[in-house]
Amino acid sequence: MKIEKVLAIESSCDDTSVAIVQKDGQVIKVLSAAQIQAHSPFGGVVPEIASRNHSIKILPLIDAVLKESHLNKDDIDGIAVTSEPGLIGALLVGVVVAKSLALAWDKPFIGVNHLEGHIWAPFLSDNKYQPPKMNLPFLSLAVSGGHTTLYKVSGNFEYETLGTTIDDAAGEAFDKLAKLLHLGFPGGIYVDKLSKKGDLTKYPFPIGLNKKTDTNFSFSGLKTSAINLIQKLDIENESTKADICASYQEAIVDALMLKLIRQSEKLQIKNVTITGGVSANSRLREKAGEWASKNNITLGIPPLRYCTDNAAMIGFAGIRRMNNGEFSNHSLTPQPRASL
Ligand code: KG4
Ligand code: ZN
Repeated sequence: MKIEKVLAIESSCDDTSVAIVQKDGQVIKVLSAAQIQAHSPFGGVVPEIASRNHSIKILPLIDAVLKESHLNKDDIDGIAVTSEPGLIGALLVGVVVAKSLALAWDKPFIGVNHLEGHIWAPFLSDNKYQPPKMNLPFLSLAVSGGHTTLYKVSGNFEYETLGTTIDDAAGEAFDKLAKLLHLGFPGGIYVDKLSKKGDLTKYPFPIGLNKKTDTNFSFSGLKTSAINLIQKLDIENESTKADICASYQEAIVDALMLKLIRQSEKLQIKNVTITGGVSANSRLREKAGEWASKNNITLGIPPLRYCTDNAAMIGFAGIRRMNNGEFSNHSLTPQPRASL
């Protein structure tokens, strides 16, 4: 039996998200509850607070998604849930709810790798977004708060890691600067906004692992140089802050583009996607777009709503696997540290 529609749950970090997705990636409905206010006072995600909020929000979200899409359990063929990697308590809430629903509704279910979700996010579709037409193989740069990995996707379920961060993730680097400059949480969006008013050539920040043979990423040196620089500057001054943001953002974007371009040229792969929370960054989107149009690259970057964590991408990754005959059983447990 073909699985036509799944109900999907994402709760691996601080967003509780529920979606209904079709087998072709069409998103029927996605609703998310962010927890920014709850974590803001701490300047980062507090795992216990995240789990508690997921457990409060998840059932009302499931009800709302079904109601707003005018569907009921009989229209759903299966359930997909993020089961790895992520915060253990946060994952546990989603997995327990998915298993319970699967039992109560008598539906098959599947645990989904969060990164596999990000990889397929550029191929979701809805009334306002149509994905690019792209053949395999393609390159997928998955950049988020927890991950920075460049994959070669050579088969429907074949992911080869070409490079990954050896220390911080790109999103973490954005969040750290925002914290140092007291801009707000999560920091990426604030750095992005303030950078528009700044001079991106003002401060030279280092690009980690930039030798020709380097394939991995490193962002920890950036943070150290930002700390050293900030000690010498007046960060109460808005234009100084904007210059720091623009220069720092440029270094992150250049570091990402350097490896992406290099691998695209080396492997002669002209189909490229960028995904994950950091793919919402306006400068990264701009630079990637310019490179793609000059070099005849087919580029897929999801709209902002599918860049950051959402259940729609989990639903699509899950339904692809289910239609490949893959299902989980009730012994499924969350794997906080799993890779793809
Ligand atoms: O994919 P995501 O929602 O969660 C993880 O899987 O980690 O990514 C969150 C990350 C955060 O670090 C956040 O600061 C960053 O994405 N982010 C951005 C922007 N919007 C979100 N970074 C740079 N520029 C943005 N506009
Ligand atoms: Zn994510």
